[in-house]
Amino acid sequence: MMKEIVFATNNKHKLEEIRHITGDHLLIRSLSEIGCYDDIPETADTLEGNALLKAAYVRGKYHFDCFADDTGLEVDVLNGRPGVFSARYAGEGHDFIANMKKLLDELQGFESRTARFKTVIALIINGNQYLFDGHINGHIINEMRGEEGFGYDPIFVPDGYNITFAEMSAEQKNLISHRAIATGKLVEFLRREFDHL
Ligand code: IMP
Repeated sequence: MMKEIVFATNNKHKLEEIRHITGDHLLIRSLSEIGCYDDIPETADTLEGNALLKAAYVRGKYHFDCFADDTGLEVDVLNGRPGVFSARYAGEGHDFIANMKKLLDELQGFESRTARFKTVIALIINGNQYLFDGHINGHIINEMRGEEGFGYDPIFVPDGYNITFAEMSAEQKNLISHRAIATGKLVEFLRREFDHL
């Protein structure tokens, strides 16, 4: 029988990305596919904490093996902010443009603009918890460039490149991104766990 696991998200982009990696051997179900429409609390003050909260919520209420992710952009001169608050940096609206404007304002006058995207994935399987992470270093430029991607992509240039994430194709970004690295570690683990993936 095909193994199945819940990914605690309804984000189509993330679901597509991981289904592309795992192929037909693993059935990845989204929250809506298990009938979960809850606003799952993300009240922890670390990425690890939030990823675990989400995975534990689904495991506790729906009894599926499950994994969940949380991502943040950490800017060095801002002591790691926006970090765990990346989605709602400029307020609860999850407005990508407002978030970027706020960050650019805060960075005005700073020469050092090094930053990294970090993703943490929490997996709860057979009652055990595991964490996987991935990050990519880069820097924040002064203006927004590019139309692809989402979030802070238009202002983030990864090390070794002179274009932003938003100027890359999805395929190019997915080869190097924080989330792709963490997802790769998760899939590698699941391959061993399920043996035949
Ligand atoms: P989430 O944990 O994946 O929902 O990410 C939280 C927030 O981090 C998002 O709302 C975005 O603002 C930002 N973010 C996450 N991943 C990326 C990315 O790949 N590029 C740019 N911003 C991202």
